[in-house]
Amino acid sequence: MSAEATATPTRLIDRNPSLSGAEMVAQLVPPRQFASASLDSYRPDRDYPSQGAAVAAIRNFMGSSTGGGLFSRRKTPPTLPGIYLDGGFGVGKTHLLAALWHIAPGRKYFGTFIEYTALVGALGYAPTVKLLTGASLLCIDEFELDDPGDTRLMARLLGELANSGTRIAATSNTPPNALGEGRFAAQDFLREIDSLAARFTTLRIDGLDYRRRDTDAHARVSPDVPGELSRVGGVTTLDGFADVLAHLASVHPSRYVRIVEGLSAVGLTNVVTFTNQTDALRFVAFVDRLYDAQVRVIADGTPLDQVFPDDMLAGGYRKKYLRAVSRLIALTTGTD
Ligand SMILES: Nc1ncnc2c1ncn2[C@@H]1O[C@H](COP(=O)(O)OP(=O)(O)OP(=O)(O)O)[C@@H](O)[C@H]1O
Ligand SMILES: [Mg+2]
Repeated sequence: MSAEATATPTRLIDRNPSLSGAEMVAQLVPPRQFASASLDSYRPDRDYPSQGAAVAAIRNFMGSSTGGGLFSRRKTPPTLPGIYLDGGFGVGKTHLLAALWHIAPGRKYFGTFIEYTALVGALGYAPTVKLLTGASLLCIDEFELDDPGDTRLMARLLGELANSGTRIAATSNTPPNALGEGRFAAQDFLREIDSLAARFTTLRIDGLDYRRRDTDAHARVSPDVPGELSRVGGVTTLDGFADVLAHLASVHPSRYVRIVEGLSAVGLTNVVTFTNQTDALRFVAFVDRLYDAQVRVIADGTPLDQVFPDDMLAGGYRKKYLRAVSRLIALTTGTD
């Protein structure tokens, strides 16, 4: 046990970081968990041929390695400037996106949709375009359509970058022409999505949640949250669930990444089922950052795979909630 192991947990709600534009740009790389993700370390499931096909298509997207430069189109048919990895949760979309980023030459960026929109918010639109222009590849993990304004902004940004030669790779749990379906009916919004979709080749990846391939797991409930936190050691936090939700409401989601930075485990007590969709969606964004940073979650109260009530699971954000559940199972049980 290290000297740190007995350190008293800090409080999550006391962590309220700010992030400068320069710091945001420095973070546009794959999360720690995917620092060494490669096409070779991706193991396609033979029961789902679309997985092997996706690997081949990604290699092709980068151009033939014998074709005179990674981005050469000489030996491959002309391709659209964008590639879009669509599939259920846990099928390895982020892994493949990070693998693509690692093999791309030159200046390249990797971030979530939310990080790019936060960057535009911090720097302004024109400076962001200027900064990103000239990149060989822009990776956008978890394309979101929760906010029509953000989607339009992103469509415009990606259009400009694609026109100047940047390749774009994105992931989501929904194909681009279905994104936003059933959520926003505004015609101009749909047109925007169509124009965006026209730039992407969609790769559908079928399969099982890799995190649950071997088990039908459930989130773990801790019998002793403080005790387990002290056994994990390092920098840990301990808060009541309701306090955390209130704190998340007071911090922009783009800064959640800094709230979890450097933590080895987060303790949550008195977890209860969500009654409010806004709180639930903020928590989903927070879970995403915990997952990226691989921070253990030690919790008591309602099991974290049961916090999203049926009416929320039946709504437009179903996939987001199910993905969060998959991630919470992994983070509470200490599996990958
Ligand atoms: N076929 C695979 N071979 C090796 N590792 C895999 C494979 N599929 C997934 N993984 C690993 O499983 C974990 C989950 O995969 P990943 O996060 O890439 O899935 P995802 O499709 O992005 O899921 P989500 O919808 O949650 O974002 C990662 O650690 C990833 O490296
Ligand atoms: Mg992912």
